[in-house]
Amino acid sequence: MLFDSHAHLDNPQFDEDRDELIQKIHSEGVSNIMNIGACLETSRHSIKLAEKYDFIYAAVGIHPTEVYELSDSALDEIRQMAKHDKVKAIGEIGLDYHFDDTDREKQIDWLNRQLCLAKELDMPVIIHDRDSKGECIRILKEHNISNGVMHCFSGSDQIAKEVLDMGFHISFTGVLTFKNAKKAVKALSVVPLEKLLIETDCPYMAPEPYRGNRNHSGYVIEVARKIAEVKNIDLDTVIRVTAENAKRLFGIDA
Ligand code: NI
Repeated sequence: MLFDSHAHLDNPQFDEDRDELIQKIHSEGVSNIMNIGACLETSRHSIKLAEKYDFIYAAVGIHPTEVYELSDSALDEIRQMAKHDKVKAIGEIGLDYHFDDTDREKQIDWLNRQLCLAKELDMPVIIHDRDSKGECIRILKEHNISNGVMHCFSGSDQIAKEVLDMGFHISFTGVLTFKNAKKAVKALSVVPLEKLLIETDCPYMAPEPYRGNRNHSGYVIEVARKIAEVKNIDLDTVIRVTAENAKRLFGIDA
């Protein structure tokens, strides 16, 4: 009963074999998948996938590196999409300062607007925070947001504690399995099991031993395995509790 809490199965990298692959993954033990929108088009695609498969849910939102396409009508479309039965979160949204050529003011403006939307609709948020040096967390605090998950967590154990104090869940990808992932492993050690989610972020971030290949939701088991190893608890418990956590966060009936 694995729950991949962050996947991009609508990505063109799956065009050749999407349906075949999704059915295979599901039959091999991934019982639920949250498919994530990153712009208007991928948010629409996420809903289509969620309509097609009862075990797939959708999140809608505009990723910080995609904010160029935002307008009032775009925000309205996100609001309408968010009201769909299978849409369970606003995301992924956040700040990404990794590349200098992105418009940071625009990112902040649209993070603010999408956080207001999440509050208005009483929905959890899926946060992408890359190299914002505390700015993203500051904005989340300003909005008093506690219902959400920091996806693909790559911060320190100190930041993990800060985020947990806000009430957030923390989600790890296959990065945790990389040889140089000491910081992530240290952060994991301060996250209680009941606040943990697992994800693939596929098609990106394939875990060891598949690093460098196309990632897919079936590989989420490798993230669970690593957590079991680091926390010294049995794999079945990690799988069960992270799935329960995801269902609770996203308001999915068990
Ligand atoms: Ni993502």
